[in-house]
Amino acid sequence: MNPNKALWEKGDFTRIAESMRESGEALVKKLGITKALKVLDLGCGDGTTALPAARLGADVLGVDIARNLVEAGNKRALKEGLTNCTFQEGDASDLRELKDDTFDLVVTIFGAMFAPKPFEVAKEMVRVTRPGGRIVMGNWIPGDPTLVAQILKISSAYTPPPPEGFVSPMTWGVEANVIERFVAAGVPEENISFERATYTFDFPDSPSEFLAVFEKYYGPTMNAFEAAAANGREGDLHAELETLFKMHNVAGDDATSIPATYLRVTVVR
Ligand SMILES: C[S@@+](CC[C@H](N)C(=O)[O-])C[C@H]1O[C@@H](n2cnc3c(N)ncnc32)[C@H](O)[C@@H]1O
Repeated sequence: MNPNKALWEKGDFTRIAESMRESGEALVKKLGITKALKVLDLGCGDGTTALPAARLGADVLGVDIARNLVEAGNKRALKEGLTNCTFQEGDASDLRELKDDTFDLVVTIFGAMFAPKPFEVAKEMVRVTRPGGRIVMGNWIPGDPTLVAQILKISSAYTPPPPEGFVSPMTWGVEANVIERFVAAGVPEENISFERATYTFDFPDSPSEFLAVFEKYYGPTMNAFEAAAANGREGDLHAELETLFKMHNVAGDDATSIPATYLRVTVVR
């Protein structure tokens, strides 16, 4: 099986996504979404940004590699009666089922960054966006001191080195790489802009309980714990992550609110 698909189907990202709903909705409200705008949410998970876009009247397609998340997204849309929001399986590096020049807006929040072959991903996003349309990416930033970059950094110290040729998803958080990839896909550099923004993880229990959710349901963290356990080091990994989660929590001991910085990229095709 495709290891990228296996990674995201392994856990249950809906459990993490529940802590990201408010920031997802706030971000979507800033995107100037109008009725009937054609929106593709790529690496959409269970619809943290797709559903708010549909609530604003957009015509939304969510595409994700993980079957379980596509099912979860369709269930959430059905429950809300959002007939303008559907989810289907697909791979951001090969969107052959989608026609050229289709979408007014392609949104990918911590989604396409996790697909392999970043140059193909940029090419596909540009191809399916109509001329004059926009692509908005949210990407975690390598070396950033806030939560997610640090989870991935700490975890990588417990896992074996990736296979030869593996391109880290975090490279999407470096402006020069983003420019190189979109320019290679035919976008003029002056059409690419960047800003630093914040996503907040909110959870109605302590940071330790929030970490427990990552350990149980977040594929990349589950893999790190499996690798650490093979060397008898899962206690060390847990301790490092627990310190990190507590250090970044701004909500006291019985609740969790952790802000994390990301790179927001806007590309005009
Ligand atoms: C960190 S989650 C973010 C999900 C969602 N955008 C959100 O904000 O809640 C990353 C998502 O990217 C999806 N993904 C990873 N690789 C992918 C690929 N090659 N094509 C499409 N989706 C992919 C995963 O299945 C997962 O849903």
